[in-house]
This record gives sequence, C-alpha cells and structure tokens, in this order.
Amino acid sequence: MLGKLLLASAWVAVAYPEFCKPDAENAFKVRISIKRALGDNAYTWDANEEYLFKAMVAFAMRRYFSQETTQISNVLLCNVTDRVSFWFVVTDSSTNATIPRSDVEAAIRKNKNRINSAFLLNDDALQFLEISSTLAPPVEGSVPTWLIVFGVVLCIITVGIAYLIISGIHQRKRHNKAPEEIEGLEDKCEATVTMENGIPCDSLDLKAGRINGVYAAADDERFTSL
Ligand SMILES: *[C@@H]1O[C@H](CO)[C@@H](O)[C@H](O)[C@H]1NC(C)=O
Ligand SMILES: *[C@@H]1O[C@H](CO)[C@@H](O)[C@H](O)[C@H]1NC(C)=O
Repeated sequence: MLGKLLLASAWVAVAYPEFCKPDAENAFKVRISIKRALGDNAYTWDANEEYLFKAMVAFAMRRYFSQETTQISNVLLCNVTDRVSFWFVVTDSSTNATIPRSDVEAAIRKNKNRINSAFLLNDDALQFLEISSTLAPPVEGSVPTWLIVFGVVLCIITVGIAYLIISGIHQRKRHNKAPEEIEGLEDKCEATVTMENGIPCDSLDLKAGRINGVYAAADDERFTSL
C-alpha cells in the first residue's frame, strides 16, 4: 500500500515536470525584474510569490473560460532562476494534457493588468516573453486610434479630390461657354433680319443703311439741282 502510494506520488512528480520544461509545448517563459521596478521597496521572489503567480494564472484561465475548472495545482512552474525567470504551463485535469497555447495566451493578455497589479509591476517588469502586451484590454472594445486618424485623412482627401473635380468641370464649362456666346452674338449681328435680342446690331445696321440712303438721296438732289 505504502509502496503503491510512493509509486503514485513518484509518478506525479515525474509526470508533471514532463509538461513543464523550457521550450515545451504550451510552455511560456516569464521574466520578472522586481528590483529594477521597485528599487528599495523590492520584495524577494519566494514560494509565496510563486503561489500568488499560480493563483493569478488560474484566475485568468477561469475568467477566460468562464468556468471554475482550472485549479492552482494546474499551474506548473519550473526552472525558476534567482534573477527571477521561470517557465510555466497550465494543465487540464480532464484531459491530462496542457491547455493549448492560444487559450493561455488570450487569457493572460485579457488579464495582464490584474496580474501586473497583483505584483505591483508594469509590463516592462513583468514580461511574458512570447505574449505581447500591446493588445492589452484598455484598447479592446474601443475604436483604435489609427483607424480614426485614417478615417479623417481619407475624408479630407476625398473632399479635396471632389472639390478639384467639380471646380475643374465648372472651369471647363465657363471656358466652353464664352466662345459660344460670342459666336452667337456675331451670328445675330450678321443676320440683320432677326429682331430677337439683336436690337443693337439691327438698329445700327438699319440706321447706317438709312443714313447712307439719305445721304445718297441728298447728294442726288444736290446734283439734280445744280
Ligand atoms: C530546467 O530544469 C531541469 C530540471 O531541473 C533541468 O534538467 C534543465 O536543464 C533546466 N533547463 C534549463 C534551460 O535551464
Ligand atoms: C488522467 O490521469 C489520471 C491518473 O493517471 C487517470 O486516472 C485519468 O483517467 C486520466 N484522465 C484522462 C482523461 O486521460
């Protein structure tokens, strides 16, 4: 009985390190710089801090899955160094396997602020080496800033192009209209018979014609009288 228990505990002790080792499948490396971040107020990384870390990761997994399936014992730490770096994996009791990388990554990302707060550290001092913190929750849900800037610039460019096109069309119309109108006027002036809007041209021509005629008649009379 005792032998069996020892064997079982030995199996557990052997089986778990298989899941957690550097560069193992679904394992993540964490680097923590407490001294650099907190200076004189720095605390030492010990077993209690490790326990808190496991609890925070379990908390993140529970929130992510919306289930209470992850226990603190499911979070395994290994290869802890003095300058505080270590690896961790999250196991799934129901499958005896590690939880897929993408799920752990998403859960950590969504809860990075809470994890940072628990250790009084920021993203620089508490690094999940393969999980970028650029997609942290604050950005989530709101429209990204670059999209707003992009939209505004696009609007300005569109309005500018529209203005250029419309003003170009207007200018060309004015350019084309001007010669037509002049030609039209000239046509009217030449056509002496048409009266519509051609009064200046017609009357001038008519007057000239009459004056010429009168002069001609007067000259004729003078000639006849002489
Ligand atoms: C991690 O720890 C294991 C067991 O203590 C050891 O065999 C292994 O060499 C360590 N790996 C690294 C990269 O430190
Ligand atoms: C997980 O391992 C335990 C202990 O060996 C075993 O009793 C259990 O059936 C396993 N579960 C699965 C889903 O493989």
